[in-house]
Amino acid sequence: MAIRNLRLEGDEILKKKSREVENIDEKLQILIDDMIETMHKYNGVGLAAVQVGVLKRVIVIDLYDDKGPIVFINPVIIKTKGEQEVEEGCLSFPNQFAKVIRPEEVIAEYTNREGKRMRVKAKELLAQAICHEVDHLNGEVFMDKIIPGTLEYVEPEKE
Ligand code: NI
Repeated sequence: MAIRNLRLEGDEILKKKSREVENIDEKLQILIDDMIETMHKYNGVGLAAVQVGVLKRVIVIDLYDDKGPIVFINPVIIKTKGEQEVEEGCLSFPNQFAKVIRPEEVIAEYTNREGKRMRVKAKELLAQAICHEVDHLNGEVFMDKIIPGTLEYVEPEKE
């Protein structure tokens, strides 16, 4: 496994639409492992493949709970319900946080890394994370939809 370079604010690739995954092959499994490692390295709760420069519809999410990292290949949001106003950040926009409106619940379908089509009903933080990462696959970033006046810069902690 390897840490991959993060694509950051201003990188044009973040505005591009990612392509459907057709084959879950060894190369894809390596990408997934690297994405999980990269997300953990930067303490993120989610990462889309485009953020490491790969335009494939793959996301990983880890809420650091007992579900462990979840891998979503070709995710589709089927249904949304309600709204929540939430604080959000993104590994491609380091040290910047802002409020956004997200659905409170989503139902999503995706293929797992074993190739099985799955369905998940997600609430709160997981719903937020799925929406944020699926946006990345469509070339959208949270900064485009923040509630005006809520952007904050947080100084990184010194190591
Ligand atoms: Ni992000």
